[in-house]
Amino acid sequence: MTSTEDQPTVNDTAPKRAAAAASTAVKPARKHRAPKLPGRQDWRSWPHYQAAKAGFRGYWYPVCFSNQVTNKPKQVTLLGEKIVIIRDQGTVYALNDRCPHRGVPLSCGNQQFKGTLSCVYHGWTFALDSGELVGALTDGPQSPICGKVTQQTYDVEERLGMVWIFVGDGEKPYPIDEHLPEELVSNAAVIGSRIQPREGNWRFACENGFDEGHAKFLHRTALWRMFKPMPVWNITKIVPRGRWIYRMQTEQHYDADFPGLGHWTSKAWYKVKPPSDPNQVSNLGNTAHSKEPNPVIAAQEFPGFASVCMPGILRIVYPTFIHYEFYVPVDEDNHLYVGVLAEFRKGKKVLGFYPKYLGWVRWLFHGQFSSQDKWMVEVTDAPPEKLYRPDESLLKWRKLAEDVTEERLEKLADQGIEPDPIES
Ligand code: FES
Ligand SMILES: [Fe+2]
Repeated sequence: MTSTEDQPTVNDTAPKRAAAAASTAVKPARKHRAPKLPGRQDWRSWPHYQAAKAGFRGYWYPVCFSNQVTNKPKQVTLLGEKIVIIRDQGTVYALNDRCPHRGVPLSCGNQQFKGTLSCVYHGWTFALDSGELVGALTDGPQSPICGKVTQQTYDVEERLGMVWIFVGDGEKPYPIDEHLPEELVSNAAVIGSRIQPREGNWRFACENGFDEGHAKFLHRTALWRMFKPMPVWNITKIVPRGRWIYRMQTEQHYDADFPGLGHWTSKAWYKVKPPSDPNQVSNLGNTAHSKEPNPVIAAQEFPGFASVCMPGILRIVYPTFIHYEFYVPVDEDNHLYVGVLAEFRKGKKVLGFYPKYLGWVRWLFHGQFSSQDKWMVEVTDAPPEKLYRPDESLLKWRKLAEDVTEERLEKLADQGIEPDPIES
């Protein structure tokens, strides 16, 4: 642009500008290469979900393995809250990790008396079960501060070899057995687990887990899938049952011709041969691998091999085992990946599980395969987003989160509890 055009205040420039505009108009139209990216700019369609950056309150979350908790206090972060956990005479307790005196973490403290935890700085001593300040050791036995301060405590349970903490808004926790996948509570199972701190928002991790499209492409290179083909594309319905929603395959295609591109297939001479009829689907696993199902797994009659429920529990069902993922919000940018692989066997048959899990399943499945998910969760950046047909799975999960949260808030309102609004 010239300086004349910058200051068009003189009338005699008008004819020149008109001529310039006319000459521009007759030029052949430039082929625009602007991106075609319509889509959703935010998640306001699901306001509770959008607000739940640091997780949904009112649930049990696993925080570490049971054998990691001793009488030495340990700090964990859950939904952005710093919590100190400690084992005393066999029972695990959890308290807010900030000493109300001067803000020092109680997890820096130590145990001077049974059933208590003392802050390392001035010796304020809290009862583990009630959180009550029962001693201020540097102010003598009659310290008047005692009984005037109560530290927040959390309900704790141990299940599946892990410590679980309930983070709510003052309500009484529901029984943890109602939180765990039903088949794990009511049947003997042998499990192998992995807990790994990971970067990325917990919602990306959960959405990745229930995402219909990604496994077929991202994980096709995983060693865990070396001999098992996965479909190239599916037709999938999302089916609710109880508190879960399921991905139910109605068609599975192991190869396809893409117009203008060519043939794309997941088949290979060294892989299991999948069925050629796309209507011959399996809803136990997604690898064309049809072993005789374990009777406990068969009895569940799962509508689909992948299911999810609040507050981010994924269940992937194969004929002989079930893989679970618990996505635990640490804070807005970090989560814990908790992978649990369960086989429903008992007696001597249990013995065969550990060499298999520790020898290769842990490394190939909970390791290399799962690290592909870890990578994607770290680099996902949404919204904005433009979803495609397989993302029906994500839409239904967000809707579930929204509906269940509405129900929870109504129940809390009946109890006179109104949680602080969370900024979205
Ligand atoms: S800061 Fe904890 S006792 Fe002083
Ligand atoms: Fe994955």
